[in-house]
Amino acid sequence: MPDPFLLLRLSAISLLFLTSLVDSLTLSSDIAALKAFKASINPATIQPFACLGSWNFSTDPCANPRRVHFTCGVNCDDTPAAGPSRVTQITLDPAGYSGTLSPEVGKLTRLTVLDLSNNYFFGPIPSSLSSLSNLQTLVLHSNSFSGAVPASLCNLKSLQSLDLSRNSLSGPLPRYLSSLIGLRRLDLSFNRLTGSLPRLPPNLLELALKANSLSGSLYKSSFDGLTQLEVVELSDNSLSGTVEGWFFLLQSLQQVDLANNTLARVEIWSPGKFNGDLVAVDLGFNRIEGNIPANFSAYPSLSSLSLRYNRLRGPIPWEFGKKESLKRLFLDGNYLNGTPPQGLFSSETSVSGSLGDNCLQSCPVSSQLCLKSQKPLSICRQAYGGKPRS
Ligand SMILES: *[C@@H]1O[C@H](CO)[C@@H](O)[C@H](O)[C@H]1NC(C)=O
Ligand SMILES: *[C@@H]1O[C@H](CO)[C@@H](O)[C@H](O)[C@H]1NC(C)=O
Ligand SMILES: *[C@@H]1O[C@H](CO)[C@@H](O)[C@H](O)[C@H]1NC(C)=O
Repeated sequence: MPDPFLLLRLSAISLLFLTSLVDSLTLSSDIAALKAFKASINPATIQPFACLGSWNFSTDPCANPRRVHFTCGVNCDDTPAAGPSRVTQITLDPAGYSGTLSPEVGKLTRLTVLDLSNNYFFGPIPSSLSSLSNLQTLVLHSNSFSGAVPASLCNLKSLQSLDLSRNSLSGPLPRYLSSLIGLRRLDLSFNRLTGSLPRLPPNLLELALKANSLSGSLYKSSFDGLTQLEVVELSDNSLSGTVEGWFFLLQSLQQVDLANNTLARVEIWSPGKFNGDLVAVDLGFNRIEGNIPANFSAYPSLSSLSLRYNRLRGPIPWEFGKKESLKRLFLDGNYLNGTPPQGLFSSETSVSGSLGDNCLQSCPVSSQLCLKSQKPLSICRQAYGGKPRS
């Protein structure tokens, strides 16, 4: 007869074994980091049906299936080749969470995505995030984070997308931003950043820094080697000086918004064979002087151009009247004179926009481009030293 207690003992052992398996599903330091993450959020702002409400540490965060607990907000590598499960993603719902971001998150070293957007996180962005060497996406937009953009974030070699827009971040941009060699998209718009642009990450596609207090010029050293840059969004800052000719020759450039700065000059060089994808340029609401650069018309795909509310003088280049790609043209609020090119009003082209509030002669009122009236003669006379030029 077999020992009647053997079976019992065996099942007790296997039960223990199973329990210990379950217990060790997630790396214990990852569990500790998740606990610290949740603990730094005001419990009063965690609704029972929100993702964080389902984070109940009486069960393992990576246990699968997770029907009752940890239903959302966190992801794990579900089938680790060896060893315990690791947390790979924290993507919170916009459920009104208010709190700080625990520095313990820096211990979740397999994290590839950290997205806390559209909540009420406040306080500093912990510099410990620099330990997240696998992080590809860091999205903290639309919260109330304050303090500086931590310089240590520049260590994140895997980072592809960094969106810290719509917070209250202040101080200069990190000096070694160009160490972010994997970065494709950088959005720090709607913060309180100051200082000038440092050297930018070399593989960037999209740069968005609008609505900050950045100053200085667009220096060639910041943009050197950025051959993939397609979108530049720098409106509503305090950038000054000259936009030099090299800028619009950046090889992949398509959309440029530099509106609402204090730029004084713009140089446009004709594109060569390997550049000229430019589609939309907004230089409105600056202090740009001189004539309208006729070389804009040499960009074959240029479809939208705004130079409104600057200090431009002289005639509208005749080339603009023959430019078939041009669909939107805003030149209002300058001191342009002479007769606008007839091609802008022909029935074949359909250019919309405005040429109003200038010193133009014979802007046909039948055209929507001329709906806004020209400046009073007295102002135009003054602008042109007494005698309006034809
Ligand atoms: C966590 O889950 C356990 C077991 O399901 C339950 O007894 C406990 O009340 C839960 N805790 C919270 C805070 O919901
Ligand atoms: C420029 O700034 C003014 C005032 O801050 C704002 O109303 C306007 O929308 C801005 N224009 C552009 C093109 O950003
Ligand atoms: C127009 O572009 C050409 C070629 O890049 C350049 O040599 C010339 O100076 C430009 N004209 C102006 C007025 O900037």
